[in-house]
Amino acid sequence: LFGQTTPDYRPQYHFTPPKNWINDPNGLVYHEGEYHLFYQHNPFDNKWGHMSWGHAVSKDLLRWEHLPLAIPEFTHADGNTKTAIFSGSAVIDKGNKNGLCPPGTKDCMVAVYTGNVSKDDKQTNQYQNLAYSADRGRTFTQYDKNPIIDIGSKEFRDPNVFWYAPQQKWVMATVKAKEHRAAFYASKDLKKWEFLSHFGPTGDTSKVWECPALMQVPVQGESGQSRWVLFISAGHPQPDYVGMQYFVGNFDGTTFTLDPAHPKPISGNSYAGAVVDWGKDYYAAIQYNDLPGSQPGPVMVGWLNNWAYANDLPTMPFKGAMSLPRQISLKRTASGLQLVQQPITSVRTLRGPASNVATMRLNNESRVWQKNTDNTYELELTLRPGTAKTAGIRLAKGSNEETLVQYVDGKLQVDRRRSGNVAFNKRFASVDEAPVALQNGAVKLRIFVDKSIVEVFINDGERVLTDQIFPTETAGGIELFAEGGTAEFSGLTLWPIKPVVRV
Ligand code: FRU
Repeated sequence: LFGQTTPDYRPQYHFTPPKNWINDPNGLVYHEGEYHLFYQHNPFDNKWGHMSWGHAVSKDLLRWEHLPLAIPEFTHADGNTKTAIFSGSAVIDKGNKNGLCPPGTKDCMVAVYTGNVSKDDKQTNQYQNLAYSADRGRTFTQYDKNPIIDIGSKEFRDPNVFWYAPQQKWVMATVKAKEHRAAFYASKDLKKWEFLSHFGPTGDTSKVWECPALMQVPVQGESGQSRWVLFISAGHPQPDYVGMQYFVGNFDGTTFTLDPAHPKPISGNSYAGAVVDWGKDYYAAIQYNDLPGSQPGPVMVGWLNNWAYANDLPTMPFKGAMSLPRQISLKRTASGLQLVQQPITSVRTLRGPASNVATMRLNNESRVWQKNTDNTYELELTLRPGTAKTAGIRLAKGSNEETLVQYVDGKLQVDRRRSGNVAFNKRFASVDEAPVALQNGAVKLRIFVDKSIVEVFINDGERVLTDQIFPTETAGGIELFAEGGTAEFSGLTLWPIKPVVRV
């Protein structure tokens, strides 16, 4: 297979690069009618390396235009020291007040990223750098007084910068990855930074901490109420994988403190973190800066992959995809303020004509919902497990493969053990599960299938489960099933989704 392209694995309405490797989203910012998506990118190969910032723009967060490489890895004057452009964020200095861009520049786009420095291919340092753009992110110039923060560490990265209006200053969240601590800094001019405080270690400390994202999040149904939420990419309910956790707290411009309503651990679950996505493939998500009034926020985008097997994905000539943009909020529940994630509302505009199917009651049987789809659709349903032991949906069903989305014993599972090509890495085949409380005996599901991506939103986004699959048969069926009793499926709606990917 090596060298062959794999068009049937290329998502049609999730972002992918034209070719080669991508990982984290970087520099998410809205400016002058454009949503910018920068991303970790290897311009030369379909595996991690030569980290640089790739670039795409969109008017609606759904349809993307690919642009040339924005910030390339660079070599220093000595000829053998290199700076790779690791993850970070972008902000707009309106009016170029800090004078980073040339005089006369209207707005200056400033990228704040981690310089990963190596000499003779041996890593020597990780510090925070600036690069600025006077032409709406098309080209960047490195700041000549870099680095802006250097603590002499090799594990200090992923600056997440935003404007903190109450004190008229920029705030940066970074991580000391191996210490499992977030470190916060502040600046009036983006150039000189003052250390504020640390948060951690706490929560899941089983993996290095990466890609912090700190933002104010509204509480549903409580007007004017919000909390600050700190997202950390690290840890996962299953020990051998990475994932994201979140902390619900308060930020006063100096210190982040946990709120008493930070969600309590789910009973019967010993996991120390609050889980963002219960699947294997959602990581390094950060928020958009400067969203326009027409787009309620916060909105986050994540990388749909897992470091456990990311370099081995069987896709050519690209590797890696981004999530649908997710609008986030908090919801007050018996166990505290829980994160809720929903695809942004306008994802609905991608729907083709709906097809509805009448309510089905299945007793120890399976029923075809739709044959031979091209695995590019959205579906909604309400599942009442009733007396069934297991009940759910078979997606991407071929003659000898299927991906199961099923309810069993208080859990919603995605079982991709027989989803197609699972052999490329021994840690890929797996069952993922999220604890789910039935509401009036039912669970609501909204599922996006996009070739090699399955994003499952449970009970209006109270739980999310995202997993990649690599079916080997090009046409995939959809089937409903109940085992060990009777289950009811209602509100069955299927929308084909119009392709928006252009490569
Ligand atoms: C997260 C990460 C970041 C780092 C980047 C390098 O996936 O490891 O911590 O900046 O990827 O590509």
